[in-house]
Amino acid sequence: MTALDELRQRIENEYRRRTPRSRELHERAQAWLPGGETRTGTAFAPYPTYMERGAGNYLYDVDGNRLLDFTNNATSLIHGHAHPALVSAIREQAARGTGWHAPHESQARLARLLCERVPSLERVRFCNSGTEANMNAIKAARAFTGRDRIVKMDSAYHGSYEGVEFDGPADSANGTAPTARPAPTSRGVPRSMAENVHTIPFDDCDAARRLVTQHRHELAAVLVNPIVTRAGLHVPSPGYLACLREVTRDNDVLLIFDEVITLRIARGGAQDYYGVVPDLTAMGKIVGGGLPVGAFGGRADIMELFATGDPPLVPHAGTFNGNPLTMAAGLVSLELLTPDAFAHLSALGAYLRDQLAAVVADCGLAFEVNAIASLVSLDLPRQPAADPTAAAGAKEIQRLIYLALLNRGIKATGILAVSTVMGAAEIDLLASELRGVLAEFQPAIAAAAPVLLRPQRAVAQPV
Ligand SMILES: Cc1ncc(COP(=O)(O)O)c(C=O)c1O
Repeated sequence: MTALDELRQRIENEYRRRTPRSRELHERAQAWLPGGETRTGTAFAPYPTYMERGAGNYLYDVDGNRLLDFTNNATSLIHGHAHPALVSAIREQAARGTGWHAPHESQARLARLLCERVPSLERVRFCNSGTEANMNAIKAARAFTGRDRIVKMDSAYHGSYEGVEFDGPADSANGTAPTARPAPTSRGVPRSMAENVHTIPFDDCDAARRLVTQHRHELAAVLVNPIVTRAGLHVPSPGYLACLREVTRDNDVLLIFDEVITLRIARGGAQDYYGVVPDLTAMGKIVGGGLPVGAFGGRADIMELFATGDPPLVPHAGTFNGNPLTMAAGLVSLELLTPDAFAHLSALGAYLRDQLAAVVADCGLAFEVNAIASLVSLDLPRQPAADPTAAAGAKEIQRLIYLALLNRGIKATGILAVSTVMGAAEIDLLASELRGVLAEFQPAIAAAAPVLLRPQRAVAQPV
């Protein structure tokens, strides 16, 4: 048995020992839910942990384990679990009704708060997910420009909408007309959709300039996550977003920021943080105070398409759009996000980054710690191992680290998102548990994923 096999067996056995009820529920669920799941992102081998409740910084699973939670429902719970102010706003609204086939004042109040904070927003509409927000922003861009094609970044995630479910090849790399088309990331995406999508590498403004200039007459918009959050954090180089702004403006193509995650990095999102204002913005997650939400908005002349004509030029219906429960929670959530709250979140994020970087360095490992404001991630080296077996070994080590942390009472998979109710004590606990895990993993890492070992510096010999 290899060192990795031995480690996997030990960690998975411990996980199974701690979570028998989760396993039972997962197995039973498979009779009615494909794979026992209803959300791709929560699938986890050998099986996911089933939760019973959350409070503050902690989740409590069905086996009675308490888990310090750094995932905060995929970054959306910026005030942690079951924040009392949010619970009472939701409770109060629920007693008055959960939805009407009619508008209500809280929609305009939440829209106003967003417009006051997020620089690109002159008008906003609500929907029910970040996926829908991107879908509608793209539709608005197509309707406004009368052009069909969009540019997205290779490997960027914008939700499960077939118009954006494409990855490379980065067809602009040589500035010529694409020969290979981007490939769908899901079955069921119509082949014809690829005709409307170009992909380019993130953080490469030359590629954007070449492609946008060449295809300007067919392009409606460039869609970008200001910070890439898929498989770790990728923060843009200085000037990249400003360059995208300039290229799109010069070529009369719209710029859409997908701020579904990045809205949490500053009061006005990444566009505020970087001082680059797109034409349209897609949002979700923190906007709903923990309830399902999406929002999109931007320039008034574009957004007016949703209200011009009868029926409107761009109809946008939705039974649950702007529902009162989500609006009530969203208002409280944003009101709690004062400048002091953002300062606290950023300071905590920096502390988490520094603590994790110290642990990784002390253990002689080559994980990258990437961070921006309240988002932090412990990533595999960006340059993947050339040897596929070593690359697979590194990915498996990463999965086992998550599992070993769960065994130690910490949920820290993927992107870590600190919340307003966290403090240094929670971060210290994660750092110390991670130190223990990495020390235990050293032999398996050396054997199965040496790419994760930091190269030893040559020691200067005295002359
Ligand atoms: C950057 C980004 N865009 C869009 C989405 C889709 O949002 P939702 O899951 O609410 O549909 C996500 C979800 O994680 C995301 O991270």
